[in-house]
Amino acid sequence: MNTEILKGTISALFSKGKGILAADESNTTATKRLQEFCQGEVTEEARRQYREVLLETPHLENFVSGVILYDETFWQKNNVGENFTSSLQQRGILPGIKVDTGVKEFPSKPGELITGGLDDLESRIKKYVEAGAKFTKWRAVLAIDKEAGLPSDLVISENADVLAQYASLVQKYNLVPIVEPEVLITGDHDIKTSYEVTKKVVTALFAALKKFDVYLPGLILKTSMVTNGNQNADEASPKEVADYTIKMLRESVPAEVGGVVFLSGGQTPVEATAHFDAIVKKEPLPWPLAFSFARALQDPVLRTWAGKPENVVAAREAFRDRLDMNHLADSGKYSVEMEWMD
Ligand code: 13P
Repeated sequence: MNTEILKGTISALFSKGKGILAADESNTTATKRLQEFCQGEVTEEARRQYREVLLETPHLENFVSGVILYDETFWQKNNVGENFTSSLQQRGILPGIKVDTGVKEFPSKPGELITGGLDDLESRIKKYVEAGAKFTKWRAVLAIDKEAGLPSDLVISENADVLAQYASLVQKYNLVPIVEPEVLITGDHDIKTSYEVTKKVVTALFAALKKFDVYLPGLILKTSMVTNGNQNADEASPKEVADYTIKMLRESVPAEVGGVVFLSGGQTPVEATAHFDAIVKKEPLPWPLAFSFARALQDPVLRTWAGKPENVVAAREAFRDRLDMNHLADSGKYSVEMEWMD
């Protein structure tokens, strides 16, 4: 492990005003998303064309420091026959790769999930390093059900151990790990419950990372924001979301961690930006912060594109609008009123 390389990657990823685009939906998820918004069969070529809309957006490098790709996209080419990874790098955007292979049911805990992919991870990593990857991501998924006592301590700690083993292995190859223990927004829980569960999950994760000797300045935490459940009648204000999220982070994330990024988790694009803005206004904090959304950046693009070549320009404009709002938030220059100005 070369700690200077890891720290260099982290400082490039946290360039002020820029975020990390998550475009690493598995083929199954990407197909489902495309089917929601586009007509016709979703083929590998349709997924490539969609990624072309996102990744070849002019001036993407002004808003995005890195992109998390899925294996299929990682090896695909853009419309002019260049690998997407080379095209990103030429614009100073770091290519990253999702390396988990998805979730499956935890054997002794029906309804709870464990993430797989450790078995052949080392051989896959070697290929990605050779092809220019600079960072990686692994996502664990934990749902809240207060009455059923979920997530269970066992599943929290097993996912934490797997995340830590992944992080320690990729660091050996000088790839920055993004550890993402996503606590789902789904449910009728209140914001306090979300805070308690997220804190427990993130605390367990850092205990496991310590146990496996992971180099924390060369690691990024990708976390859910602390919000109330999406079926809870209350809507927490951006200030409450920011207060609880920062309290959770201060109480569970060591100061030496390289940085913290946020997933959008099913919030609307405007909610995700308004919450991110309120969180960023709490800086200075021990770690740099950035956005790393998938749905909150991509939904307006997919809706506008709808699979039609004649909509590419408009879809990219919709993308740039969302990127710009998040860029302004990251730079401390956002206010929610801007969402409704022309
Ligand atoms: P969302 O922003 O849609 O939650 O996705 C982020 C992500 O990286 C999921 O793994």
